[in-house]
Amino acid sequence: MSAQPGVFVVMEGPDKSGKSTQALLLVRALRRRSVPVVHTREPGGTSLAEAVRDILLDPDRKIDPLAELFLYEASRAQHTREIILPALRAGKIVLSERYTMASLAYQGCARGLGLAVVRTLNRVASCGLVPDLTLVLDIPESEFGSRPRGSLDRIEREGADFRMKVRQAYRRLSRAEPRTLLVNGRLPVAELHELIASKVDGLLQKEDFMKRVMPPERESSPPGGED
Ligand code: TMP
Repeated sequence: MSAQPGVFVVMEGPDKSGKSTQALLLVRALRRRSVPVVHTREPGGTSLAEAVRDILLDPDRKIDPLAELFLYEASRAQHTREIILPALRAGKIVLSERYTMASLAYQGCARGLGLAVVRTLNRVASCGLVPDLTLVLDIPESEFGSRPRGSLDRIEREGADFRMKVRQAYRRLSRAEPRTLLVNGRLPVAELHELIASKVDGLLQKEDFMKRVMPPERESSPPGGED
């Protein structure tokens, strides 16, 4: 696990894999139990990183693949230092929609920059932070067109070939990267939520998170006893 008292969980997957829906359901379930959770995303999560996100996803921009990688890493460096590490030090759960694995899948594999350079930049930008659990939602490329969509951003405008490379990369990385779980993104929303919540619960129990971080339940006074 991370050296901090908090727990770092990441949700990954191809575009339209249902990450945001599942992240929201998980955050709500944790908050109902008063678990302290910070819900964030990449690119983004801070004012500067959200500005970088706007540049990255703007469909009117032409961005060189290497410049694209550096922009994602710039967003990550700011996000990690400003939001993630302080929250982990404060003993919170951080749930991020996307982190380092997205750069491996999109820039390393689909853009063809290779894993070595991406791993190097990931390590620098993340201060060597490795998530305690990465959940990868797997959907076939053909699902992309059948899921609800508004206007498409710069990355979503890439073709089916690019999306297939992203999916294959996630599947391969899920087998190779530590503490990563590939889940079927085509399961009904509620069923997938149950699965994800049970995996996260298992992690919190393993890390003794509830004992370390949650205030002990106040014992009720014995009947007639003084408070
Ligand atoms: P999303 O937050 O809606 O998933 O949009 C972010 C887009 O950026 C998505 O298409 C994946 C892409 N992306 C990368 O290409 N590399 C990265 O490192 C990250 C974090 C996201």
